Amino acid sequence: MSINYQERIPNNVNLSTDRALQRALEHWQPHFLDWWTDMGPEGFQASDVYLRTATSVDAKGWATFGHVKMPDYRWGIFLADQEKDRAIGFGDEFGKPVWQDVPGEHRAALRNLIVTQGDTEPASVEQQRMLGQTCPSLYDLRNLFQVNVEEGRHLWAMVYLLHAHFGRQGREEAEELLHRHSGDQDNPRILGTFNEPIDDWLSFFMFTYFTDRDGKFQLKSLAESSFDPLARTCQFMLTEEAHHMFVGETGIGRIIKRALEVMKEAGTDDPEAVRKAGAIDLPLLQRYVNFWFSSCMDLFGSEKSSNAAAYFASGLKGRPDEASFEDHVLLDATYDLTVPDGNGGATVESAPARNAVNEMVRQAYVKDCMMGVIRWNRLIKKAGFDFEITLPSTRFRRSVGPWQGHTTDPEGNPIADEQFERMRTTWLPTESDRAYVKSLMHQVIEPGKMAGWIAPPDRGIDSKPVDYEYVRIN
Ligand SMILES: [Fe+2]
Ligand SMILES: [Fe+2]
Repeated sequence: MSINYQERIPNNVNLSTDRALQRALEHWQPHFLDWWTDMGPEGFQASDVYLRTATSVDAKGWATFGHVKMPDYRWGIFLADQEKDRAIGFGDEFGKPVWQDVPGEHRAALRNLIVTQGDTEPASVEQQRMLGQTCPSLYDLRNLFQVNVEEGRHLWAMVYLLHAHFGRQGREEAEELLHRHSGDQDNPRILGTFNEPIDDWLSFFMFTYFTDRDGKFQLKSLAESSFDPLARTCQFMLTEEAHHMFVGETGIGRIIKRALEVMKEAGTDDPEAVRKAGAIDLPLLQRYVNFWFSSCMDLFGSEKSSNAAAYFASGLKGRPDEASFEDHVLLDATYDLTVPDGNGGATVESAPARNAVNEMVRQAYVKDCMMGVIRWNRLIKKAGFDFEITLPSTRFRRSVGPWQGHTTDPEGNPIADEQFERMRTTWLPTESDRAYVKSLMHQVIEPGKMAGWIAPPDRGIDSKPVDYEYVRIN
């Protein structure tokens, strides 16, 4: 269905045919805009930003580009087209028709899933709100704002479901999504990581590479849901999410490229020499990778989870690309998990597969994370340097699941706490790393100019040149 931009709330769900719902959402809309003004990007709200806006949900012309002031962005409600006769793809109800309404017995669980997903969207906008002050280029500034407005739209996506399917409780939850704030002492965001400020651009690129990718896998799991409106919403969100991960992968790639240029010029890979030239050394980058990757591990939940088993059994949340698996019911299947053996080592334990769904999703995520790492390493190798970026083990630095409280090295070998503490500054960002990264953060807003720690992108956005005026600052 095409998107109706004539209405106050752009949508492709025939909103005008449901007056009560339309009124409720039109009541929420100004609250959203107030939140955007108060908690969204600091500054630049009057600037014209070269943004893409959804015009239809099919693969082709889904986006149009143009200069827009962020508060005028057309946030709306876009669901992927309904698939005729779609059947439940996994769990106890496998093969039965999907639900267009929420079954009473799954109401609380579905509401929880939607609220938790919805909460991360505005949280990330809040975390990133100061980044415009230190952007390395107009190109990057535009990408930041594109990510921000789309996270705002993802909030709309979840709020629509809450309003349309969960009655008064849903409307209350929608208000709460605007009242919790990232890092707020009294009323923080639901998930821990989403309360940490992202105040430097290296962290922003790490976030969009690793944390947005967690988002991708959560959305892929929800896109399999038997609750069809949720599945269709998530399908469309995934097409937006792809750009966020592109920003992360190319951002980190450009930082590496710049480091390699400096290393070549100086004829050394000595981190001090790299820093003297104002670039980011690769060992520092590796420590940030270790930090961000391991922080994201916990977002998938425990390796063994009765919640995950229940979500799978009832058809609420499946596995990414469920169709690619052979067994969609997993009644007798088992899955091998590596767990601590109680004697300072590790052992393999066979768990009921349904209880191991979190781990299956996590493993798919790790594989996806590797793609960019391989490309980055290719750059380093091609430049003739002997350094390889690696992802730590999924057991490293865990605070959830069987490895919680068990210290390991980045390869996942159990080690003593003292040994971990001795190695901390080799494995994880140090105070001086963070201070150095911070010292590089200065705003560059001349078209085509780049900060000295990052290489220009290979190409611009929407076939525009790299020195295009992606943000017209007013
Ligand atoms: Fe999102
Ligand atoms: Fe995202």
